[in-house]
Amino acid sequence: MKKKMLKALNEQINAEMFSSYLYLSMESYFQSISLTGFAAWMRAQVQEEMMHAMKFYDFVNERGGKVTLEAIDKPESTWDSPLAAFEAIQKHEEHVTNLINDLVDLAISEKDHATNNFLQWFVSEQVEEEASVGEVVEKLKLIKDNPSGLFMMDAELGKRVFTMPAATE
Ligand code: FEO
Repeated sequence: MKKKMLKALNEQINAEMFSSYLYLSMESYFQSISLTGFAAWMRAQVQEEMMHAMKFYDFVNERGGKVTLEAIDKPESTWDSPLAAFEAIQKHEEHVTNLINDLVDLAISEKDHATNNFLQWFVSEQVEEEASVGEVVEKLKLIKDNPSGLFMMDAELGKRVFTMPAATE
């Protein structure tokens, strides 16, 4: 694998680890305000981001590259409301989508077809991530400060469980 591509993939491992860390911080925020369903949703998100990081990690190794881990930035630790937290996720996921798109652009310009093919899974994954977070943001906007709406949302989000994708994906 070319140096430029390897460096960019290593940076993406860090970005995915940061996402996991950020969502773990949000899980802690939701636990602190007793919204355990929101916290459970966040735990699934933490595991999903860790899985993303490991997908990049395994791919770099598979291609004969060396993974180099860097420091993970400190995430924020509190938000003004559940809506503010989910709007922060939405913004963060849009940023991650841009990072994935940049990686695809690089793979194309480097004529690295294997990496481009690998990245297509993430292109689809980002569409799903942005859609599911966007849905929660819209619902939270409708709920506003209505406590019963928030409790219903908490129960709904608490149903989410993380499932590991098949190894062949
Ligand atoms: Fe790994 Fe949420 O992007």
